[in-house]
Amino acid sequence: MQLQDRVAIVTGSAQGIGRAIAKKLASGGARVLATDIQGEKVARVAEEIGEAGGIALPFGADVSNAVEVDQMVKLALDTYGQIDILVNNAGGSGNIGLDHIEDISEELWDQIVDGNLKSAFLCCRGVVPHMKSKRSGKIVNFSSMTARGTFGPRGTSAVRLPYAGAKSGIIGFTAQLAKDLGEFNINVNAVMPGFVLTEPGARVADRFTALSSEEQEHQRTSIPLGRPGEPHEVAAVVAFLVSDEASYVSGAVIPVSGGL
Ligand SMILES: NC(=O)c1ccc[n+]([C@@H]2O[C@H](COP(=O)([O-])OP(=O)(O)OC[C@H]3O[C@@H](n4cnc5c(N)ncnc54)[C@H](O)[C@@H]3O)[C@@H](O)[C@H]2O)c1
Repeated sequence: MQLQDRVAIVTGSAQGIGRAIAKKLASGGARVLATDIQGEKVARVAEEIGEAGGIALPFGADVSNAVEVDQMVKLALDTYGQIDILVNNAGGSGNIGLDHIEDISEELWDQIVDGNLKSAFLCCRGVVPHMKSKRSGKIVNFSSMTARGTFGPRGTSAVRLPYAGAKSGIIGFTAQLAKDLGEFNINVNAVMPGFVLTEPGARVADRFTALSSEEQEHQRTSIPLGRPGEPHEVAAVVAFLVSDEASYVSGAVIPVSGGL
């Protein structure tokens, strides 16, 4: 991975998959703006990157808030002078397990959809003028196998309905944006993780641990490769998509799901 001279914004990088991506891109030489709504936690990730010899600046921001996204983009440009890569990893299905549409409040719907879909729109809107002006850029959005509606047993996704809607929206958003930005040499792709077991204390790991051993076994065996993915396995695909090696890949939605 040759990412020297590249600047990457990685959203949601305080933990889980985003943390692995920030570390991976930094290890390839990119200067990273590591952002997360958990400001203190993302500061520790930036420290870890620095200790490993990389360059990362932390920034606490809610990427579903337009003002904070604009501040994030300005900080990246003021600090590093350029933005080459945007990874819209922030998102998730929340922590409240609700399975029935009748139980989902309008507020919760907005929170999940904004956190997963509007956030991607706002971050792309923020960086695209800069990428257009230099006629290059790489954007990776985050969908989920849950977008297919039938993925897996209950457990690792909390409020599945708005989450599936938002992650499905990411697919159309990615396809259209790739088409719109192709003439500016900006590649826009999405990854579609299946079940990725993050570190203890992160959302998915905690929900998985709370399942019975039978439910855990069912979840594992429903995956063709017979095991959950690991954050670094998603980070590796993202690293490929933002590299020069993926110069002719745009508008793709790549499952990283162990064969689901
Ligand atoms: N882990 C999986 O099995 C899995 C499967 C499919 C898709 N995904 C997607 O991958 C991405 C990362 O998942 P994860 O398991 O690492 O999740 P996670 O919850 O462990 O980490 C997500 C990070 O995003 C941050 N975040 C959430 N909303 C934010 C906001 N509005 N503004 C700023 N930061 C925000 C959180 O604070 C957290 O640090 C998400 O988009 C998720 O939907 C994960």
